[in-house]
Amino acid sequence: MSQLKSTHQTLTKRISFDEFDEIVNPPKQTVDFDNIINAVISRRQALKVVSIAGASAGMFAFMHATPFSFNNAQAKEILLDFKEVSANALDTITVPENFKWDVVVSWGDPMWSKGKDFDHKTAGTFESQLLSFGDNNDGMFIFEHKGKTILAVNNEYVNNDLLHYANPSKKPENENDIKKNKYAHGVSIVEIENKSGKWKIVKDSVFNRKVTPDTDIEITGPARGHTLLSTDADLRAQKVKGTFNNCASGKTPWGTYLTCEENFNGYFMSSDANEKVSAEFKRYGINTKDWGYGWGKYDDRFDFSKVPNEPNRHGYIVEIDPTKPDSTPKKRTALGRFKHENAEVVLTNDNRVVVYLGDDERGEFVYKFIADTKYDPKKDNSNILENGTLYVGKFNDDGSGSWLVLDEKSTGMKKAEICVHTRQAGSKVGGTTMDRPEWVASHPHKAEVYLALTNNTNRGKSEAMPINAANPRADNKYGQIVRWTPENADHANDKFKWEIFLLAGNPKVHANNNAGSKNINTDNMFNSPDGIGFDSRGGLWIQSDGNYSNKGDYEGQGNNSMLYADPQTGKVKRFLVGPIGCEITGLCFSTDKKTMFVGVQHPGEDSSGSHFPGTKDSIPRSSVIAVSKKDNQAFL
Ligand code: FEO
Ligand code: CA
Ligand code: CA
Repeated sequence: MSQLKSTHQTLTKRISFDEFDEIVNPPKQTVDFDNIINAVISRRQALKVVSIAGASAGMFAFMHATPFSFNNAQAKEILLDFKEVSANALDTITVPENFKWDVVVSWGDPMWSKGKDFDHKTAGTFESQLLSFGDNNDGMFIFEHKGKTILAVNNEYVNNDLLHYANPSKKPENENDIKKNKYAHGVSIVEIENKSGKWKIVKDSVFNRKVTPDTDIEITGPARGHTLLSTDADLRAQKVKGTFNNCASGKTPWGTYLTCEENFNGYFMSSDANEKVSAEFKRYGINTKDWGYGWGKYDDRFDFSKVPNEPNRHGYIVEIDPTKPDSTPKKRTALGRFKHENAEVVLTNDNRVVVYLGDDERGEFVYKFIADTKYDPKKDNSNILENGTLYVGKFNDDGSGSWLVLDEKSTGMKKAEICVHTRQAGSKVGGTTMDRPEWVASHPHKAEVYLALTNNTNRGKSEAMPINAANPRADNKYGQIVRWTPENADHANDKFKWEIFLLAGNPKVHANNNAGSKNINTDNMFNSPDGIGFDSRGGLWIQSDGNYSNKGDYEGQGNNSMLYADPQTGKVKRFLVGPIGCEITGLCFSTDKKTMFVGVQHPGEDSSGSHFPGTKDSIPRSSVIAVSKKDNQAFL
């Protein structure tokens, strides 16, 4: 989700969601900035790291001194050879000259033949939206089943000014508008097929399905049945309606889809403006005002003065079997409740299931989950994610790290409480506050894990968010990617070594640490890494969700883009540039490795002027695109 959203702007002045949440939940008092830097520098000196002039430069030197620096003469050339694409501000997709792209599906495309084609005058009705692909596509994965290809795609949120374009207010104005708004959220599952070299959705496929904010979902795991999740409609806390703000995703070895509930807080409000907001709610940014969605005006579940526990029933990982269209999705409370970004699933050396999880808010944590039950391909694995142990990441300044267990002993909280108030548990044991953890990606050929930290303009401004080696820049506008290797190359271990893989920046504008790390130059520079993922060759794809003003600190960076990085050499090249106002988010690969599916989210947000993928009279529409080589060779 981008930092500036039109839904939110209808509510208040142009501020980011994080800023909005911080008004609700202010960080601790601002401290003397120099003292923070001095504290970090003295630790640096203790490590005998060469310090260049100034505190920030000292941090910068350290980053190139960490354990597995890629800066070596033996470095191999980048894995995939292509001519780098230049930054641009065009209203289209730009790919290297020997590649091509097509639209697979866009917001509002009918999934069944009884649905209507997208109406650019009205942006559709609730009836048409219920039969159509949702808005703001994000994380996605491919599932092969009985010779069919099924694509499961998150529809994260909506832009009110586009969805309700036909309303004079450009906002939802009545109950039908709220239904339309809801049905544009959730998960769209579609069968796709490649006909004459173009991937298209298969209308009326038995696998086509919409999981919406009103779909019945089973609550599983430690928080199932707990009073914190009990409501009048579901006293026993076993069934919840819906999933929404589904950001990125995961895929399990047993063939299910994990959809991750991120900014769930923004949908809740209180019709009683004097309703007390608990400390627990505040930690999650829940406020008496919502972010402009307005659902609580027509659906009491979203009004916490009427249904006080409903917010505790959201903010989880939801497991869906895309091959069983009638199956009930399951909320996996064991994986914790926070603003979930994605769910990267790996196996330990003895086949236990590990899920790495980011909590995308300034100063929140990265988590690891280890399931109690081992994965066994010969058995039914469908409930492996029901129980397990959560850990929070601690990144020490000397390049070591550990996973701190969240259990009754370490937190003083009951297991179910840890699963509902996971952020509080993470704070109790001293997790490292991070610069907005977005996607986690695991290298396909070795135990090495990458984490995108998108940006954090509050870093270094308060005691709650001091500069540290993993989050080394105050007022971090550009973001970084951190990687770690677990001890003994086994994800089961609670110790790891880490380093910064890249520090995004702008070497055209800055000569200090805001220029970025050594592998960033004026050709490949970008800001705000968000989606990341590996292809089978071990190449790292990086998607950006940043400032696309192309001015000031961002001069020369153009629209949001997608880059390709070689983990071995650290070399980074721009592969794709998106249209105006979009973020690039969501990627997965066809089984034959010939097609990369890429998400183009919210082109034209904030009236930025896009008509993508149409022409001048079109409403801009989020879309899944297919990128392939012109010679149709495998490249992934
Ligand atoms: Fe939905 Fe943190 O991105
Ligand atoms: Ca983002
Ligand atoms: Ca994201």
